[in-house]
Amino acid sequence: MPDRVHLDMVVFETTDACNQSCKFCYNHFKSQQGFIMAAPDFSLAKKSLQTLLQQAEVSSISFSGGEPLLVPRLFDLILKARFAGSNVHLLTNGTLLTDDTIGYCRDLGVEMIQIPILAPDAELHDSITGLAGSWQRAVATARKIARWDSSRLIPVFVLSALNISYVLPTLELYRDLDVKHIMFNRFNVGGLGIQHWKALRLTTQQLQDTFAAASRFLVENNMVANSGVCSPICILDPKHYPGIRFALCNTDVSHRPITVNYRGDVRYCNHSPRVLGNIHREPLSQILTQATASGYFDSVPDVCAQCSLWSRCRGGCRAASEQLYGRFDLADPILNG
Ligand SMILES: C[S@@+](CC[C@H](N)C(=O)[O-])C[C@H]1O[C@@H](n2cnc3c(N)ncnc32)[C@H](O)[C@@H]1O
Ligand code: SF4
Ligand code: SF4
Repeated sequence: MPDRVHLDMVVFETTDACNQSCKFCYNHFKSQQGFIMAAPDFSLAKKSLQTLLQQAEVSSISFSGGEPLLVPRLFDLILKARFAGSNVHLLTNGTLLTDDTIGYCRDLGVEMIQIPILAPDAELHDSITGLAGSWQRAVATARKIARWDSSRLIPVFVLSALNISYVLPTLELYRDLDVKHIMFNRFNVGGLGIQHWKALRLTTQQLQDTFAAASRFLVENNMVANSGVCSPICILDPKHYPGIRFALCNTDVSHRPITVNYRGDVRYCNHSPRVLGNIHREPLSQILTQATASGYFDSVPDVCAQCSLWSRCRGGCRAASEQLYGRFDLADPILNG
């Protein structure tokens, strides 16, 4: 019996399939030529989750995708995770949750439900997601969850050139849902976002001004945001944005958002395209030990070589460099504007 590893957090990608095609979506397989979306496969997802839970004790599992609500019997999977003692977060675009499935979330003790609300109105949100009616449904779902327990609802803002002018009215919408915690992500290039990169990307000045305005709003309204995307400290220095908590890229695998998809493929994080191994072929403990020993994290981008912040920052999100340039030894593409 191989060692059972302990992980703080796993992102479990339940399916590649999605009913939206958000212009910014980082799902790495969407940048592949001739990519064909596989249909949801409950049996395979169940087998992979069971194997994961046999091989690892996981404090918190984020059910993500693609769109997890497209997986039939998704709540059987969530029940398995809860039985194994894991806290569960559900990352969904919110368009497919019903009164019944919100009830299942309540009954199963789902800790957090994250729903992207990208704009204060339907027209802009739907133009980003590519699905007519998606804003209406996501906001209606968010309202229902907030009525049940607003502390379980985490609205997600993905900041890009498309919605930069609408940050404050969108944060006002979140405040009116009575939430105290939100996600405030900058657009991180990858997946479908590579195709739309020029239309989505922001200058350093735009990022800094917008993070400062968002932080002020959050502090004034007694709210707090997590920035879910690691960012170079020379672009976004956490000390200037007290209302926003920043994720930094941790090289210790037990504290990383290790990502396992429904086929059992393991990756360093949800943004990284690089498959480290498959839990149906070798134990997770071995995959992670080999990954740590590979020295992959040791490469230092030239631009960071003399930087005193290196040990904290590690070049921002180099999974984005892998996605855009096919290389991990280059700093976050955001440094190149
Ligand atoms: C890939 S989605 C999967 C779950 C679900 N389909 C959804 O949209 O919530 C997970 C989360 O990542 C966010 N996201 C997707 N692409 C992103 C990007 N390029 N940069 C930052 N956040 C992104 C989404 O808004 C969502 O909150
Ligand atoms: S961000 Fe979520 S909803 Fe949007 S395309 Fe990606 S997986 Fe689908
Ligand atoms: S380590 Fe690199 S990306 Fe991070 S602050 Fe220093 S120069 Fe910028």
